[in-house]
Amino acid sequence: MQMTEYSKKVMDHFKNPRNVGEIKDADGVGEVGNPVCGDLMKISIKVKDNKIKDIKFKTFGCVSAIATTSMLTELAKGKTLKEAEKITRNDVAEALGGLPSVKMHCSNLAADALKAAIKDYKDKNK
Ligand code: FES
Repeated sequence: MQMTEYSKKVMDHFKNPRNVGEIKDADGVGEVGNPVCGDLMKISIKVKDNKIKDIKFKTFGCVSAIATTSMLTELAKGKTLKEAEKITRNDVAEALGGLPSVKMHCSNLAADALKAAIKDYKDKNK
């Protein structure tokens, strides 16, 4: 039997992804595609007092995309918009105990979609 390249945490977030879905009355929505593989990610956020009160995601993506976004939603919840904007794909990969290097591109989706959702919120609330 072949060993999986994914850490236990990655598999946990893949099998039991947190915060899956869509916020119906979202304050900001970010949708991005991954130029490397064509996979898609949508993140919606609810903002209160400049903080991310709720966050949900939907994806057409691989194991890594699901696990990294699940982890990202946990990292971002409760953070201020400024703090959340600073979360990088490396922060997410680290929190998951590492990602196989060929799958690092997948973690761009989560960080990029969150940034797009925050931008959407800011554009609507100028
Ligand atoms: Fe497309 Fe992972 S292969 S996001």
